[in-house]
Amino acid sequence: MNTTPGSPVASDRPRILTGDTPTGRLHLGHYVGSLERRLALQETHDCFFIIANVHAFTTRATQFDEIRSDVLEIVRDYLAVGIDPQRSTIFLQSEVPAIAELTFFFSMLLGYGRVMKNPTIKDEIRIKNLGDTYPFGFLLYAVGQTADILTFRPEAVPVGEDQVPHIEMTREVARRFNQVFCGVSDQVADEDHLDKGGLFPVPRADVGRVARLVGTDGTNKMSKSLNNAIFLSDTAKQVQKKVNKLYTGRQSPTDPGDPNNVLFQYHDAFNPDTARVAEMRELYAAGGIGDGDVKKELGAAINTLLEPMRQRRAEYEGQDDRVLDILRDGTARANAVAEETLHRAKQAMKVDLGPRSLKFQ
Ligand code: TRP
Repeated sequence: MNTTPGSPVASDRPRILTGDTPTGRLHLGHYVGSLERRLALQETHDCFFIIANVHAFTTRATQFDEIRSDVLEIVRDYLAVGIDPQRSTIFLQSEVPAIAELTFFFSMLLGYGRVMKNPTIKDEIRIKNLGDTYPFGFLLYAVGQTADILTFRPEAVPVGEDQVPHIEMTREVARRFNQVFCGVSDQVADEDHLDKGGLFPVPRADVGRVARLVGTDGTNKMSKSLNNAIFLSDTAKQVQKKVNKLYTGRQSPTDPGDPNNVLFQYHDAFNPDTARVAEMRELYAAGGIGDGDVKKELGAAINTLLEPMRQRRAEYEGQDDRVLDILRDGTARANAVAEETLHRAKQAMKVDLGPRSLKFQ
């Protein structure tokens, strides 16, 4: 394989694209919602992982310093999980200009009302209490995400359930672009767009094994801002402590317990010993095992998952330069694909004046 910095990794594998907004450390919800899927896809697909730092500016523009450190943190999380920068491309959104250019063009293909109807946008405005004070760029980010994706012409986008409306909008943009600029008829099925001359595939959402992991509060979705997360970078002690605090409302170990409470949701998600989980579940419902024992085994199962990540993370500790090099190299590779897409899109739109090149000095 060619691993010269900045050169595209030659690959005939089908492509996927996904990524994260840098908002802090990744947690177990990210793992079962998407990271685990990415690791599997790394074996069979050409994977592009975008660190959406421009999107972080939609609500935290004044915290630009923090956004920078969150970017490095997320790359370290990716590496710790086992994303291999030799095989997969980790890149920085702000340094791929084709994405910004395509965002502007794509914004012409989507009505304002359509963007405002996007349920993820509506939820975010509500949950983050944005009222009507959000910047214009906040709405634009949804259009931007269609460009993040289509710039890489992927066949699928592995995401958590909350991102599905964005993929739906992306599919609309791909269809519209192909119909308007590539002469694809509106009768053509989504999977035939490329064969019929479209530039963009109509990519599908690939939702992870656990679409929504409950947080340690037992009620809300796991999320850093709700303070109910177990982080991939937590120490073994921190993990066990958070697990011990999980609230079940059960008074005594001989009370019949709810075998589908948060403890067992986590066992289902993280304990590979399904026979033992089934056994504990029966005992629990019959009042034959205490919360303490179930929690001990849960903490151990989660720590077994996280231990190899801790070891890999330690290799990059205090090595920001190495992490930045990985990001620089990935971004150069991403730009090679992105510039090709942009050039072809501009040809289709009849706005191009010939090829151009980009490189880091
Ligand atoms: N919006 C996603 C999130 O908040 C991050 C993201 C940006 C993304 N661009 C993307 C995810 C493209 C998948 C594909 O997690």
